[in-house]
Amino acid sequence: QLLKTQLSGDQVIVVSNREPYIHEKTETGIVVKRPASGLVTAVEPVMRACSGTWIAHGSGSADRDVVDAADRVAVPPGHDDYWLRRIWLTPEEEQGYYYGFANEGLWPLCHVAHVRPVFRESDWQAYKEVNRRFADAVVAEARGDDPVVLVQDYHFALLPALIREKLPRATILTFWHIPWPNPESFGICPWRREILQGMLGSTILGFHTRYHCKNFIETVDRYLEARIEHEHSTISYREKDTLVESYPISIEWPREDESMPPVAQCRANVVARLALPQQACIAVGIDRFDYTKGILERMNAVERFLEKHPEWVGRFVLVQVAAPTRAALDEYRNFSLRVQELADRINARFGNGTYAPIVLLAKHHEHDAVMELFRAADICLVTSLHDGMNLVCKEFVAARDDQQGVLILSRFAGAAREMPEALIVNPYHVEETADALHRAAVMPPAEQRERMASLRSTVREFNVFRWAGRMLADAGRWRLRARIEERVR
Ligand code: F6P
Repeated sequence: QLLKTQLSGDQVIVVSNREPYIHEKTETGIVVKRPASGLVTAVEPVMRACSGTWIAHGSGSADRDVVDAADRVAVPPGHDDYWLRRIWLTPEEEQGYYYGFANEGLWPLCHVAHVRPVFRESDWQAYKEVNRRFADAVVAEARGDDPVVLVQDYHFALLPALIREKLPRATILTFWHIPWPNPESFGICPWRREILQGMLGSTILGFHTRYHCKNFIETVDRYLEARIEHEHSTISYREKDTLVESYPISIEWPREDESMPPVAQCRANVVARLALPQQACIAVGIDRFDYTKGILERMNAVERFLEKHPEWVGRFVLVQVAAPTRAALDEYRNFSLRVQELADRINARFGNGTYAPIVLLAKHHEHDAVMELFRAADICLVTSLHDGMNLVCKEFVAARDDQQGVLILSRFAGAAREMPEALIVNPYHVEETADALHRAAVMPPAEQRERMASLRSTVREFNVFRWAGRMLADAGRWRLRARIEERVR
């Protein structure tokens, strides 16, 4: 409601690569699924509250006939709160823009995970072309000349300036969901100036943390002739101002009337379904199958923990959900093979015919199945090597209304700044993570309760509506200022 008031009738258009709903044609009819994406987790509740149009790449919906001839569908199914408009990319466009420049170039460039970025001229051309196509779609959707456009993520660095060219009065809020590196690291990108110029078409440019804002401002300072006002965190470039601000993203806190199945039942279901030992200490990891998530390091830590504390062999299990992602890229395929091999080796070392310390579930799990795992778990492991924010840790906390369970969290996830009550680890330090596992496994219920209660109150208060509300309130002030200046001129 508050968001609606803040927008006071303005038209909202969201742009992201990932679509919030996937319509899949099966033998029994169309099945609607939710993708594994932190971005979708956060932005979808905001769109349900604001209405408007969400423009996305129709990637998951394999067959465009499924959706409808007009390429526009009302979602969520059965509620029809907003429109989803899909842009259909050719296989070449998808290859160059999404797999190539976004995920072989920008993704490793921005995440310090020691995977070398690849920059190909042809990918860059496809990236530019797809950004243009999305800009055309925004212009086609705009009812007036001043919509509020929410541009999401590194797939669309050029979009803000392209929209600004056609709709100079638009309010453009760009949120960068991944980290921003330091100027030296970013400087290896052959098209660094074009990327920065594109982003500075934004009215507001948001990152998860102050640190990423600082890196961005320093990068602009290094590579463009811009005026920077550090005190107000603004950049003036070609007579246009952009506010660079941190907005830590979050999740939708479960509603009071949203009942979850009892913890004991979730535990019994998971133990039975995965044939786990009855009294096992269950740790869970829920990730996309991505090399930035620290899944190998996590498994190494499990191995070290079992080595150091053999009393847990036969009584400790890591259930690792790894949702397939970007599997067309060699780096991702090789990574999943390495994870599988490591899991097999550790299971061969410590397991037997009926017990395996690592249960690797390499498939997408829908929200309810993830919730069940969270509620069944004694420990949740988030060991990203680098992460803008990471919402898995926040969802785990939201799922634990029994105030039990221990969160082990990487210091290299943006969330670590807000969640110091977790056991914070350096995922590269296997010994430290192994020790945190032991500490978590033996943590008394009272200490778990104390930590969990505090984590829950933080996430409940700083939920996703707070994230969107702060950004929209800042945008509202800038919009008002611009209107006043227009009148004065
Ligand atoms: O937040 C980072 C992000 O890349 C989002 O842009 C994306 O939706 C999510 O992770 C999952 O990645 P993908 O959409 O490539 O499967």
